[in-house]
Amino acid sequence: MNYQAPQNDYREIIEADRAHVWHHLSQHKKYETIDPLMIIEGKGLRVWNAEGRSHLDATSGGVWTVNVGYGRSEIADAVREQLVKLPYFAGAAGTIPGARFAERLISKMPGMSRVYFSNSGSEANEKAYKIVRQIAHNKYGGKKHKILFRERDYHGTTITALSSGGQEERKAQYGPFTPGFVEVPHCLEYRSQWGDVADYGIRAANAIEEVILREGPETVGGLILEPITAGGGVITPPKDYWQRVQEICHQYDVLLIIDEVVCGVGRTGTWFGYQHYDVQPDIVTMAKGVASGYAAISCTVTTEAVFEAFKADPDDPMSYFRDISTFGGCTGGPAAALENMRVIEDENLLENCTAMGEYLQERLEALKAKHAVIGDVRGKGLFQGAELVADRETKEPLPEAMVQGVVADCMKTSAVIIGATNRSLAGLNNTLCFSPGFIATKSDIEELVTAVDGALERVVNA
Ligand SMILES: Cc1ncc(COP(=O)(O)O)c(C=O)c1O
Repeated sequence: MNYQAPQNDYREIIEADRAHVWHHLSQHKKYETIDPLMIIEGKGLRVWNAEGRSHLDATSGGVWTVNVGYGRSEIADAVREQLVKLPYFAGAAGTIPGARFAERLISKMPGMSRVYFSNSGSEANEKAYKIVRQIAHNKYGGKKHKILFRERDYHGTTITALSSGGQEERKAQYGPFTPGFVEVPHCLEYRSQWGDVADYGIRAANAIEEVILREGPETVGGLILEPITAGGGVITPPKDYWQRVQEICHQYDVLLIIDEVVCGVGRTGTWFGYQHYDVQPDIVTMAKGVASGYAAISCTVTTEAVFEAFKADPDDPMSYFRDISTFGGCTGGPAAALENMRVIEDENLLENCTAMGEYLQERLEALKAKHAVIGDVRGKGLFQGAELVADRETKEPLPEAMVQGVVADCMKTSAVIIGATNRSLAGLNNTLCFSPGFIATKSDIEELVTAVDGALERVVNA
């Protein structure tokens, strides 16, 4: 690669960071004696740190975001061009990139019709909740206002998004929470709540129905689910799960919200994760990969039927969706998103994501055959996880410190950045996460798998 690694001395920058930046999801005590990781530049799947060391980034920017890879000047150029023309106008008005991206996005989502722009995954989900709540008020006298969420799923960091979070370590100490959010059981067959049942998917979906019946169907307006749970353990849904979920939502008139913040726009090899499962949502939210991190953008996409509910009474000044997101009016987001989508199409990146995802899964299965510490391999496309266990029979999770040791070893020994579930469920932060950009090649996958193989050898078998 004709790429010049960073050569500068970043000491001053590092000191400024140490002195003033409060890093996300980080305990800072250690930075009194060591430097925080500083990422300076990126190209393709590689990022360079302040010492000029090159790393293979198998996390797409840490959290499933830089899906088309670093250094995409075509996306940067599209954003620049748009910002010079018009950087911003509040979303009560339309803009050229907003209209064009909405049209393009909807063309990838049969059955969906309207796009509401905001700028983070949490915010996109908050919009979905407000839509459910307002429909409850306008149509059901406020009664059908409860929103169900699933154990182990995550929907964001704001207090109400956290109120709908199924990961207690993200929630602890931040309550009290918004009322009206009710948890349903997870659907991870590897850790079945009902023993070894033949129809686990149906059983797990029926558990949602049980909660609806317990709460009273007349009180339940929405259900939010990740198509494949991400930070809660890379949980692919069991067979027949989604079909049964869809039936239940129809039967009890519950709006189905699918949180595609991680899976959306290609991560699993289809445009959206739910499109693997023949399910038709009422609302879909997305963020991270929509513009691959080149600009902040999130979308709450609805069916025409949901949208129509807010037009029904034009004489009522309170019945339309009285919501705004200041930065939902930034034009850089949809400009970047349009170009991101063009890149995915022109470079056949969905196909590559599927092919490389299958290859990665195969290679992880081979690692599982070699290392007893890998209890389960799960995922779709370039969204894969390996759950680590201390004992395959009992499935006792590997202690978190060792899981983090594997991540640290990949970084230190092999300069490969991988992820692991983190501060999600007590005792169950034991799944390694692999999500390289969609441009990954077989040789990138080999580099990744070799790093993990060596790390397991050194950290677990030592
Ligand atoms: C599934 C899911 N939904 C929502 C969010 C929240 O997105 P944001 O951090 O952009 O608010 C995340 C973030 O990791 C996520 O994984």
